Amino acid sequence: MAPKITIENLNVTIEARPGMSLLNSLLYEEQPIHTVCGGRARCGCCRVRIVSDGKGISPPNEYEKNRLGEEARKEGWRLACQTTTLRDVTIWLPTDGELEADCAKS
Ligand code: FES
Repeated sequence: MAPKITIENLNVTIEARPGMSLLNSLLYEEQPIHTVCGGRARCGCCRVRIVSDGKGISPPNEYEKNRLGEEARKEGWRLACQTTTLRDVTIWLPTDGELEADCAKS
């Protein structure tokens, strides 16, 4: 059975798509997540905050670490495009006000 992704602030639960990044699972289910760079760890628009413990998703790679920075990572932010879902996970999708201005337009 595929892991479940619960979006806490939308009160929605979807199934992770096998072999897809968290970003693509969310896009596949038409959830309101943004991307400008197409999943290349450049724009930072696909940020999600992990609400549950971090064990439900893959550990950050170097591209993600560099793009997010340490402070954002300590706050629980991850780049959905660089992340795969390993187990059930609960996330928070940022509102437009929590994103960089260019992201809200995408
Ligand atoms: S989609 Fe651009 S950083 Fe993830």
